[in-house]
Amino acid sequence: MAIILGLESTCDETAAAVVVDGRRVLSNAIATQFELHAKYRGVVPEIASRAHIENLLPVITEAMTSAGLAANDFSKIDAIAVAHRPGLIGSLLIGVTAAKTLAWTTGKPLIGVDHVHAHLYSVLLDRDCWPELPAVGLVCSGGHTALYHVRDWLDVRMIGSTIDDAVGEAYDKVSAILDLGYPGGPAIDRLAQYGDPKAVAFPRTLLGRSSLDFSFSGLKTSVLYHVRGVPKKGQSVKAMMDEQWDEGELHNVCASFQAACIDVIIEKIKRALRLTEAKSVLIGGGVSANRGLRAALADFQVPTYFPELRYCTDNAAMSAGLAEIYFQAGRMSDLSLDAITSSQFSEEV
Ligand code: KG4
Ligand code: ZN
Repeated sequence: MAIILGLESTCDETAAAVVVDGRRVLSNAIATQFELHAKYRGVVPEIASRAHIENLLPVITEAMTSAGLAANDFSKIDAIAVAHRPGLIGSLLIGVTAAKTLAWTTGKPLIGVDHVHAHLYSVLLDRDCWPELPAVGLVCSGGHTALYHVRDWLDVRMIGSTIDDAVGEAYDKVSAILDLGYPGGPAIDRLAQYGDPKAVAFPRTLLGRSSLDFSFSGLKTSVLYHVRGVPKKGQSVKAMMDEQWDEGELHNVCASFQAACIDVIIEKIKRALRLTEAKSVLIGGGVSANRGLRAALADFQVPTYFPELRYCTDNAAMSAGLAEIYFQAGRMSDLSLDAITSSQFSEEV
């Protein structure tokens, strides 16, 4: 049993967490950057990197003290974990450099983990369950939508991924079209529950009979065309919506868009299960918070695991948790650990 300090800075959340035994989260400190990026309706890499520099040390201090440790006493920490891939290079470098510095100055082992694999592991945090392996893993977030064959936690292989937008990205873009703000997922999810999922027949892009890849950009464009209709010359989409739409129509578009996303996700999971004969499904990433998706998979054909809501979006507890498995297996990194923008095993299909 180890006590691991994890760091996360792959995109726009700066986070640090202390996790015991890969399961029990003693602290989970997160500095979000929503407000900095909201007006751009997406993450601006340069702004994200600068914010990580400002936020990282206070966040580490918070993680240590909330775990009941002195801010600068690392003697009880057994290893320093960091998500070193995939992500924005400037953002990754801040966390990786901090983790290397901590490991070097304290003499503790350094463990680099793949952020996307850590999203899959997040289903285990603060839980007693051990999902039966092999599993099909789905990571659906703002930056990633990919399927994995999880043979065991040291052997996680990508078997499909999006060829264009990630599903969370589609939520965010549709939210921008509907003027619902950023991030869009929670807003659309909330409004979808009041609408009719069959009201608008948005496309389900399946990319052929056996493909495990995803495509969400056509769906997003369909929503745009549906919403835009035939605007008057010089009229903004917002003005047109205000004039022509009632609230019910907005709810119906949200519900129909969400239904299209969920149908595609479920079909791809079923295909992956047929291919791998996996015993369970693990779903992580920001979109795994979606109520519609959780409800649709409530009585699925194999046991399906979602993270606690606080571990759906980016956090460092999931990296510290996965690092426990690496720690026990002796799979440590050294100070040559690099920040890498792509995901691990992405070449293996
Ligand atoms: O995992 P995450 O924090 O960051 C990335 O690694 O991308 O995921 C953020 C994404 C955003 O696109 C956000 O709109 C989406 O997750 N999201 C949701 C929900 N909550 C967050 N999408 C659908 N339904 C939700 N309830
Ligand atoms: Zn993520």
